[in-house]
Parts: sequence; C-alpha cells; structure tokens
Amino acid sequence: MSPDYDIASPGAAELFESLRAFGYDLPTAVADIIDNSITAKANNIWISLTWAGQNSRITIRDDGEGMPEDVLLQAMRPGSLSPLAERAENDLGRFGLGMKTASISQCRCLTVMTKTKTTPVAIRRWDLDYIASTGTGEWRLLKGAHLLDAADQSALDSQEQGTILFWDRLDRFVGNASSDDQVAQKHFRERADAVRDHLAMVFHRFLRGRNAIRLYINDRPIEPWDPFLEDCDAVAPLPGETLKMNGEAVEVKPFILPHHSKISTETHALAAGPRGWNAHQGFYIYRNCRLLVAGDWLGLGMQKEEHFKLARIRIDLPSSSDMLWQIDVKKSRARPPAALRKDLLRIARAARSQASNIYRHRGKVLQRKVGSNDVFLWNHVVRRGKTFYKINREHPIVRKVLESASDKAPLRALIALVEQTVPAPLIVINNAETPDGLGRPFEDSSSDLKEAMAEVFRAMIEDGRERSDAARALLTMEPFNQYSELVAVFLEEQSNKETT
Ligand SMILES: Nc1ncnc2c1ncn2[C@@H]1O[C@H](COP(=O)(O)OP(=O)(O)O)[C@@H](O)[C@H]1O
Ligand SMILES: [Mg+2]
Repeated sequence: MSPDYDIASPGAAELFESLRAFGYDLPTAVADIIDNSITAKANNIWISLTWAGQNSRITIRDDGEGMPEDVLLQAMRPGSLSPLAERAENDLGRFGLGMKTASISQCRCLTVMTKTKTTPVAIRRWDLDYIASTGTGEWRLLKGAHLLDAADQSALDSQEQGTILFWDRLDRFVGNASSDDQVAQKHFRERADAVRDHLAMVFHRFLRGRNAIRLYINDRPIEPWDPFLEDCDAVAPLPGETLKMNGEAVEVKPFILPHHSKISTETHALAAGPRGWNAHQGFYIYRNCRLLVAGDWLGLGMQKEEHFKLARIRIDLPSSSDMLWQIDVKKSRARPPAALRKDLLRIARAARSQASNIYRHRGKVLQRKVGSNDVFLWNHVVRRGKTFYKINREHPIVRKVLESASDKAPLRALIALVEQTVPAPLIVINNAETPDGLGRPFEDSSSDLKEAMAEVFRAMIEDGRERSDAARALLTMEPFNQYSELVAVFLEEQSNKETT
C-alpha cells in the first residue's frame, strides 16, 4: 500500500538561494554571528576582513565553549532549533537560522571549525556552488580536514576551545573584483568601517563593565558607542518606568541628551551615531542588552524632526517577549504590542516635549538678545475711526514677490483684494461663539512652516542682509516667533552650513 503523503523536500540549491534574500547587509550579518559567540560565553571575538580581490575573506573567531561534532552538525542545519523552543534566559538566538542565513547572505561558502575543552576540532562546510553542481538537490554538508589548508586548520591552536567561521567567495560585495581594483578595495574598507560602527552600537552594553567582552576588528579593539552618553554629566535621564505585560516587565527609560553647546565638539560628533543625530532619535529597543532598534518612533504616528533629536528612549525587553514584539530573523526590527502603545506614546510625547523645550528655550534667549523690532505681515490701520488690516509691503517675502514680478498689476490687485475682504466679521463672531477656537498658525504642518521660514530667510539674504542678522530676524517675526524651537534648530543648521 502506498503511503497517503508525498515527501516534498525543498531543493537545496534553490532554497539556499532564496535564503540569501532575507535582507541582511554586511554589518547586520556579522552582528548575528557575534550573537552566537556571546551566547557561547566567549570573552574575546576577533573579526577579520582580508582584501584579496575575489579571494577576499571574512573570518569571525571566538573563544567561547565551542561545539562537539554532533552539535555542529545539528547547528549547520537550517532551522536547527525551533523559534518556539524554550531558550536559556540570556540566549541571543531565536530562529535557529542566523548562522546559516547571515553567512550565506554575504558569501557562497561557509566553513565552521570548532572545538570544546573535551572534544577535538570538527569542521563542516556549506558550499553553494558545490551543492548546485551536484544537480541532485541534496543537502550535502561537506566535512573533513582537507577542506582547509594547514594555516586555516591551525586557527584554533592557540586556544582551548572556540569557534571560527570562514566566509569565502564574498560575491555580494566583492564579486569578481581583481585584487588591484582600487575602487573595490576602497568599498571593502568602507564596509569594514561600517561593520565596526554597527557592532560598537549593537553590543555597546557588552563592551563595558566588569564582565565585558572584547571585540576586535582586524586586531583593533572596538570601543562601545553609548547612545545615552551615560558617562556624561550633562545628560538628563528622566525617571524610568516598568510596564507590565503578560506578567513580563518591560523597562523604559527616556534620556534627554545635552545641546551641543553643553558638551565638547568631539563628544557631540561622536554622540551623533552612525546614521546622524536626526536619524538616531526615538526608541532604542534592547533584548537581553543586545540592541535591536537604534532610534525609531515605532510607528506611533510621530515623525523624526530636528527639534526632537535630543530625545532617546531606552526599552529593555526580556527574550521571552520576542513574539509579542514581532522581532524578525535579522533582529533589526521590533514592533510594540498594541497593549503597550498608549503608554509608549505618552512617554514619547513627554520626552519629545522636553527635548524640544531645549530649543524653545534657546530661541527665547536669542529673542531677548535681539530685542523687539518685530516684523508683522499684517498691519492694523485705523482710518477715520474705522479699522483696516493691511499687508505690510516691507515684509521681506512681500517685498521680494513684488519686486520680482514682471507684471506687478495683478499682484497689487490681489493684495488689495485680500486686504479689503479680510473676513473680520466672521472671525469676530466665531471667536465669540468658541473662544480659543482659532488654530495656531501652521499648527498641523510643521513642514509648511519650515518651508515658509526658509523662503523668508532666503528673501532677506537676497536683500543683502547678513546671514546671522537674517536668522535672528526670524525669531521676532510672526508666526515664527511662536515656534522658537524650530527657529533655533533652523539657525543651527544655517550656522553649520556656514562653517562647512
Ligand atoms: N560561535 C558559536 N559557539 C558555539 N555554538 C554555536 C556558535 N555559533 C552557533 N552555535 C550553535 O549553533 C546553533 C545555531 O545557531 P543559529 O543558526 O545562529 O541559530 P540560533 O542562534 O537562533 O540558535 C546555536 O543555537 C548554537 O548551538
Ligand atoms: Mg544565532
């Protein structure tokens, strides 16, 4: 009797090619390998990126517990452990995929060599080209010492235990480049720097303190990058909160970073982070101290804006909350569960408001220095006992528009019409019926406001005013004087432009 099922194994070559497309880049792929080393209790991890054209190679070696041969064999299987399996509390792994998918996302040949205190060196290799060449669809995992040359075989000789991964045939970012290809070599070096910066960020909490691990890239130690500048006195940590969810505690702690006038230029530049100040505002999500998300407002309906860039909020998750936070295989994304969104929104709003207060305050101080030669768009004119509202022809933007128009007649007519038909009676009635019912200028579009601000600024520059003078004039000008935080940020950007 034939069985009532078919065996439908995936073809090895095809599935491996698909697994390559998970969306890792080099830094996130290396980070996923480092997770395994940390879980294996490594004290030291050495990453090396060696340029040799198409023979370029990346190795990642650790002095962790290593694996006996049978464990290595199991570990090399895609899906070596189910995501549903119970994990040790400090395990940084999750899907049983990382070592394989992260590696082959960057290379076509992954070799793992490992030994423990009590078991000898074991070697296994996934070679995508070999698998494709057999034409059988079989999952042939290569083994044997002959896979590596003598020098590579001795890579673990100096240590009692540990694991090394060799990534060869780096087709994704080296391809067939020849070893004297300068452009490709420069790209390779830049990628190495990106790896260093990413690891400095993702593992910064492992690189400090009593049981710190040491990470080396091409023999140079990696210094931690702390997004919260906790060693710096000028940082204002806000009170932390513990949010409870399904009996699990989620720790949330906001930090307001200091304005750059309060810290050294060097500290300020360093604190910006790999992607820059603006990009690095928002929530930082850690799972077992490992950083997953480095600055994101988590789809809570808030945008990244310059005047909020000093707000960074730390979230600490236990590893058991993976499913609830939708952590992906690459460990680069997390989404808060619905039940916590309200609290996170409240915390984010408070931190954002504190951060923008720093700029508002700076704007106010500048305003005071400038004094009050306010420029209004509307003038209030009383003639024969009657009130009229007139557009100020001396306002920079009005002047510019009037002067630059080739046919001025229609423009004058438009301005006259606007002035003569200001819906004053309607405004009076509305205001009586719903006091405070009038919107603040630009209250729901800060991008329009910024655009207007930039245009007015440009008009003043074109009119021959000094940049600094024009910038300060914005602070006393309606409606920008109500948004001193946005003006302060704008001024900062302008002065950065001047100095660079
Ligand atoms: N550097 C290492 N040292 C010791 N064991 C390792 C190392 N790298 C991987 N492993 C073993 O391989 C398994 C599979 O790793 P991986 O594919 O990254 O999945 P996960 O980390 O989700 O378990 C790990 O669970 C671990 O048992
Ligand atoms: Mg892993």
